[in-house]
Amino acid sequence: MSSIDVPVRGHQFGKTSRRDWWWVQPLLTFLGLSTFIAYATWAAFQGNFYRFGPYLSPFYSPEVLGDATHAWFGTWPHWWPRLIPASGALLILWAPGGFRLTCYYYRGAYYKAFWADPPSCTVGEPRKHYRGERSFPLILQNVHRYFLYLALVFLVILALDVWRALWFTNPATGQPAFGIGMGTVVLGVNVVLLACYTFGCHSLRHLVGGQLDEVSKSPIRRRTYDCAGCLNRRHMLFAWASLFSVMFADLYVRLCAMGIWPDWRIV
Ligand code: FES
Repeated sequence: MSSIDVPVRGHQFGKTSRRDWWWVQPLLTFLGLSTFIAYATWAAFQGNFYRFGPYLSPFYSPEVLGDATHAWFGTWPHWWPRLIPASGALLILWAPGGFRLTCYYYRGAYYKAFWADPPSCTVGEPRKHYRGERSFPLILQNVHRYFLYLALVFLVILALDVWRALWFTNPATGQPAFGIGMGTVVLGVNVVLLACYTFGCHSLRHLVGGQLDEVSKSPIRRRTYDCAGCLNRRHMLFAWASLFSVMFADLYVRLCAMGIWPDWRIV
């Protein structure tokens, strides 16, 4: 078969023959992720206003150290260095943060938006060489599967928080009584969106489908595989929806705890 040689010419950074608004998507990604990172960093360093009644902010769940009655290991030890803020979020956020940072979808998005590598398809990039994810440091992205295991544990913990958010202390008796507040709904929607994001993970699909020669031999695996595939097709949607829902859930609990807005009791 005959063939012709097509010379590959490098484009100047940002040069392209595209006429569409290719820069809108990376710009929105940059703004969206920057907003989240700025808010999450600020909230994580606060170390307070993360609990209101039965609600616990997802940024601070599980509460490993903190409140004497709720935290797994009680209050902060007296030897805790003064230079490090006593904030429970700083102890745990590396796990969900690492899960998102190494997510296949986010990688593609932030490589374009933050590193312009490339800014978009057929748009000139600032580098001449592509080292890819097979060499250091990007080879570390392969830990995504292990972050997935942690994310699944976090999901169970956050679902338990929603259950706890259904039990309000009755001021007359001091006993817990069933109820639904707007905070319960906010935390519940957040867990559903996080579940849709987590169960649509590529690695989960490989995990379920990759260990059997024929997935169809196991009906449960088959169904899980199909479900993960269905959610995976909307992975970008759930990635963004869950990112903003987790931020809003923290903001909701924080503003209630600060007395800036009231929690509306539905039931
Ligand atoms: Fe996005 Fe795993 S690929 S969470």
